[in-house]
Formats: sequence, C-alpha cells, structure tokens
Amino acid sequence: MDLKLLNKALDYLCCPDDGSNLENSGTKLICTQCRRDFVVHQSGLIELLPKEPYSFKDKASIKEDYLFWYKKSFLTPFIENPSATAWGMKEAFTRGQLVFFEQHINFISKLVPSEGVLCDVASGDGKYIQYFAKDHPLVFHCDLSVNDLNYSIIRAWEHGLKNVVFIRCDYLQLPFQRDSLDIVLCLDALVRGWEHEKIILKNIHAVLKNNGIAIADFHSIRPAYLRAFINEPIFSYSKEEIRSLADEVGIFDWEVFEFGGLPSALTPINSLFLLNPIIRPLTGPTRYILKLVK
Ligand SMILES: C[S@@+](CC[C@H](N)C(=O)[O-])C[C@H]1O[C@@H](n2cnc3c(N)ncnc32)[C@H](O)[C@@H]1O
Ligand SMILES: [Zn+2]
Repeated sequence: MDLKLLNKALDYLCCPDDGSNLENSGTKLICTQCRRDFVVHQSGLIELLPKEPYSFKDKASIKEDYLFWYKKSFLTPFIENPSATAWGMKEAFTRGQLVFFEQHINFISKLVPSEGVLCDVASGDGKYIQYFAKDHPLVFHCDLSVNDLNYSIIRAWEHGLKNVVFIRCDYLQLPFQRDSLDIVLCLDALVRGWEHEKIILKNIHAVLKNNGIAIADFHSIRPAYLRAFINEPIFSYSKEEIRSLADEVGIFDWEVFEFGGLPSALTPINSLFLLNPIIRPLTGPTRYILKLVK
C-alpha cells in the first residue's frame, strides 16, 4: 500500500478495541496501547476488526437473518479474490435500478460538502465512493464483507482511484478517532433494527469532527394499503421514528429529506421511476435521507 496514503489515513484511524492510536511498523499497524497488530494488505486494505463481534443488548429488536450473517461474516478471514462479486453491484443493475442510483447520488451529492475527508461506513460494492473519490482527497471505504471489499478494490483500481483506503471493520465498533472526519455516509444500512441503527448513528456522530456532516438514509414506512402488498424483509421508519432515534442518540442539528416514491420491489421496472413526483403523495417516499451536522 502507498506509504504516503497510509500515513495520511493513520491520522484518522484507531484501535477498534480501545480507541488508541496506531503506529506503522511496515506491513502492520500496531496499537500503541494494547499492542495488538493489524494487517495492511498490498491492495490497500487494512484489517481493523475488533476482537469480538458486538453483543446486542436487545437481540429481539434485530432481524434474525442479520444476526446470523453478521456473526458469520465477522469470522470469515480476508482472502484476496479479484473475481469476487458484491451485493447490489452496479454492473448487475436493471435500467430502473440505475436510474434510482443516479437520482440518489445526485440528491446526496447536493448535501455533501465538496471538500474534506469522506468515509462511507457501509460501502458495499463501492459505487458511492467511486463517485466521491473523484473530488475528495481522501476517502475511506468501510465494510465487513470480504466479497464487497474485494469487488470494490478491483473497481477502484480499474477507475484509477489512488486516494481510497479500504477498511475491513465493523460499523458497530468503528476504528476511527473521535472528532476526526469531515463527512460520513451510511446508505441503505440502517435497516436491521432499533439498537443496530442507534449504535451506528452514535458511532458516526462520535467520529465526525465539529461541524462535520453525515448523510444516512432510511427506508420509509409505507401507507398501510401498500404494506399489505409489499413486504420488505428489512426495517423501515417514519419521520417521527427517525426524530426519536436522533433524540435518543443526542443529535440535535438534523434535517430529513424525502426521496423517491416507487416501492423498491418495483425499481427493476425501468421507466416507472419517472412517476415518482406524481405518485409520492399516494405511496410516500422510498427513502428518508437524514443530514446531520455535529
Ligand atoms: C445493503 S448494503 C448497502 C451498500 C451501499 N451503501 C449501497 O447503498 O449500495 C449494506 C452493507 O453493509 C455492510 N455491513 C453489514 N453489517 C456490517 C457491519 N457490522 N460492519 C460493516 N459493514 C457492514 C454489508 O456488507 C453491505 O455491504
Ligand atoms: Zn488497542
């Protein structure tokens, strides 16, 4: 991994177990407190998983399939695999999903400052960081999934992006220094249950610097008549619930925007997206986009 980039990244990273600074020993980072070492791969990936998975206090509030996936992913060792595929990868999108993505990123980019260090805490296939890495000097792609990281590393290389640092981490125990980041993104991830969303928002708030900005989105709860037809296997929220979540986390400066209209189960149908502005009063928005300022 490029040494200059690694040293730049070290100003923001910390030990996921105790929050202490890390020092560079060549091929590894070492915690200045507990002396645990963390692997740095040639590809630019840093392994910063904590010792143990997060233990939810209210397990019943979390989707069971997520708990299973989380534990399994946590225990999967990172092995480089240039032919990995990722969840929600842009290459597999239908025209309708592409339009959704283009409208989504267009909306979000208007809320994101054009300068500053940007971190995406659930970056997935990396399509959002590929966009923001074009004009932000240092970008962190964070994810737990070995496949998503492998996939995104190759795409960044293909796009000639040399300012992206890949972090294998747990967003429930983020390895970033408090008050350090200018911009944090968390997209399509606050869908697993109240405690899960609360911990992530708390972590994001902690690592943002003063006046830093975070953008997180939520699937919005639909009117009852639509819920009867479309049963999505994730949590969705009302504006009032998002307000309560922000209150519980202690976030005071925030705004919620409405985005889209079509239920995501229908997004593969190409041109239906054009109907969003007309159908939103009937269907509610697809997502609520939360912008918070620390
Ligand atoms: C639905 S995908 C969203 C990806 C991307 N933000 C997007 O909108 O296309 C959720 C992502 O969260 C990641 N994830 C789930 N649990 C995680 C955890 N505990 N720590 C870090 N990443 C996690 C998954 O691997 C996946 O890439
Ligand atoms: Zn440590």
